[in-house]
Amino acid sequence: MNEKIQVQAGGKLYIAGEYAVLTPGQSAIIKNIPIYMNAEIKLAQSISIWSDMFNYSTDMSKDSNYALIQDTIAAFAEFLGKKVSDLQPFTLEIRGKLEEKGKKYGIGSSGSVTVLTLKALLAFYHLHLSKDTIFKLASYVLIKRGDNGSMGDLACIIYDDLVYFTSFDRDLIRKWIASETLEKLLKREWGYEIFVLKTDINCDFLVGWTKQPSISKDMIDYVKTAISQKFLIQTQNHLNCLKTAFLAADKKTIKKELEAVSDLLLNLSPVIYNEKLLQLKRASYGLDIVAKSSGSGGGDCGIALSFNEKDSQTIIERWQEAGIELLYQEKL
Ligand code: PMV
Ligand code: MG
Repeated sequence: MNEKIQVQAGGKLYIAGEYAVLTPGQSAIIKNIPIYMNAEIKLAQSISIWSDMFNYSTDMSKDSNYALIQDTIAAFAEFLGKKVSDLQPFTLEIRGKLEEKGKKYGIGSSGSVTVLTLKALLAFYHLHLSKDTIFKLASYVLIKRGDNGSMGDLACIIYDDLVYFTSFDRDLIRKWIASETLEKLLKREWGYEIFVLKTDINCDFLVGWTKQPSISKDMIDYVKTAISQKFLIQTQNHLNCLKTAFLAADKKTIKKELEAVSDLLLNLSPVIYNEKLLQLKRASYGLDIVAKSSGSGGGDCGIALSFNEKDSQTIIERWQEAGIELLYQEKL
């Protein structure tokens, strides 16, 4: 067991369904972003954790910088039915902070760190868990920490693919966490669905980075009161159409429906489309492209689907002029 084990976890970006998916039973389409964080884990005398984000090592004693990793390790020990002090000790090193010059990309660092830590521990102990169980374990860690997200990010990062995610009832899971063992919790049916969305649509998927960090937790707290039944019903209708359209590689419908969910976000709260994201969207005008904010908005990244290579170049140039950096590009 003294070999060095390496694992990785990527990022994610929402394509559609943001905010609505916070309500149980609502859906979102989320794209994996293959910009990876890496972990190295090996046998050691005692547990030590190091991340290039903080650049110092720590153990399991209270440390707010490392709390997310420590909580993930603690949950993993609980999963094994062991005390942390009874775990085979290791050194865990995490690299790839998904940021530049202290500004995060906003492609999912906390979800990525949780999944990365779990993957490292599983590999170190030679355990194979289903993606489903990893999803529940990672959700358990984040929900216990008071994360107010839908956990769609975890679904996407764990599957490392384009997913259609239908959310579970987090209040119910919180109740189960308070009253049941982790073992029982993991055996329960949580009521979510993660569907890998295969598509033959021929387009460029472009990610524009506004370089304006936005905190999803604060955005959610601020925007959630604006979420109405009408917004939910309309968004879900568009999500149903989008799912079918992606499966059928139906470009016209994808464009129309993405514009529609973008408009719903625009009307949900003025803080979602800040000036930079409005510019990011405006840059698509007159082109065979649909562009929108992604995730909680207020900064971070926006996305575009471009159906013409020349237009892709044009929007990239327009973004550049507006101070928006092309963070990632892929042929879907
Ligand atoms: O900003 P992001 O990429 O963390 O996405 C947040 C999406 C929300 O729907 C607003 C919250 C969530 O967790 O679903
Ligand atoms: Mg964000």
